[in-house]
Amino acid sequence: MRSLNSLLDPQGELSGARVAGSRVLVRSDLNVPMDGDQITDDGRLRASLPTLRLLMDAGARVVVAAHLGRPGGEPHPDLSLAPIAIRLGELLGTPVGFVAASSGPKAEAAVQALADGGVLLLENVRFDPRETSKDDAERTRLAEDYAALCDVFVSDGFGVVHRRQASVFEIATLRPSYAGLLVAAEMQVLARLTDEPKRPYAVVLGGSKVSDKLAVIAHLLDRVDRMLVGGGMAFTFLAAQGHPTGASLLEPDQIETVRGLLADADRRGIAIVLPSDIVVAKRFAPDAESTVVAASAIPDGAIGLDIGPAAQAEFAKALADAQTVFWNGPMGVFEFPAFASGTRAVAQALVDSAAFTVVGGGDSAAAVRTLGFDEGAFGHISTGGGASLEFLEGRVLPGIAVLDHTPREAGAR
Ligand code: 3PG
Repeated sequence: MRSLNSLLDPQGELSGARVAGSRVLVRSDLNVPMDGDQITDDGRLRASLPTLRLLMDAGARVVVAAHLGRPGGEPHPDLSLAPIAIRLGELLGTPVGFVAASSGPKAEAAVQALADGGVLLLENVRFDPRETSKDDAERTRLAEDYAALCDVFVSDGFGVVHRRQASVFEIATLRPSYAGLLVAAEMQVLARLTDEPKRPYAVVLGGSKVSDKLAVIAHLLDRVDRMLVGGGMAFTFLAAQGHPTGASLLEPDQIETVRGLLADADRRGIAIVLPSDIVVAKRFAPDAESTVVAASAIPDGAIGLDIGPAAQAEFAKALADAQTVFWNGPMGVFEFPAFASGTRAVAQALVDSAAFTVVGGGDSAAAVRTLGFDEGAFGHISTGGGASLEFLEGRVLPGIAVLDHTPREAGAR
């Protein structure tokens, strides 16, 4: 994987002097949670700054490509990157230009007008159906349009490197391509989880969908000493053990697979720790009245919204002597303060632990910041949810693998 440092190396293939004045397309992950046009957690924007600053300081003309949400290949005013450009400019301390197009003549004209050291943010790349198309040829045609905007490509959106999409994968086959500082740092840190992690190695998984995490669970059973499961996905595990789950989130079609995973873990002597109690409510609402029930006896109609106090203590105990901890997914509906205790307890257990702790991605990263934890108290807070899970699954990340390719058409000036 060629890194940005090699791009800027005076002895390198493209020296810093050649970067000055060059058009560098940076794929960043600026997919931040929003409430209307207000950004509720700007962690991913801040994580993208070092690469942008380095390139700006080197005099590059920096063009940033990014997505927001999943607009499904058509323009969606609520998912415009315009408010992101404003916040990015505030964080960089210099205005960031914005163009309401992600490729084509309008974008080309805006890039043409960029000064050395300037930054321009393109509109949400997923407004164009070709970005996420299943058809390789369509994505390649879009990547050719992106290539018209740049001389060099820098891949810095760690949160999307598991996606085979035009602004992540195909563009890297058309221009000299480098890993940005964020992507390089994430890969280096996550390798500590796969290359002989210090033991005991514990993994905490939460969030809503079991189906998203089955592959990583199966893969990790070989590698971890204990696995803690909370959040919405815990209910499918409880159902697999034969317990009633009331009106809680459930993936009935996954129950059989989860039963198999539990049996497999048992055979291998890997502890899968499930919550012993659950905070339930009759409504999914921030002000819903709640009670704590045994996880094995969730009443009819009750919705599990957080892990209970006994489970919080058990999870903290299971993490206390760990030397390596990876955590992905909140333990409950942390966005509602009344149901944030489980997520807070796990975050606190990581803060209190002497282990190398990694918070993997999107929701859990946003949760630790929203709940007021000091980011420095964790070993690493990854910007990639799905990407860090696929990395831990041992899968090839297309957006990383492609960086070793020789570009089809060398376009650097
Ligand atoms: C994320 O939020 O994990 C990344 O931005 C990737 O988004 P996606 O899952 O919609 O591709």
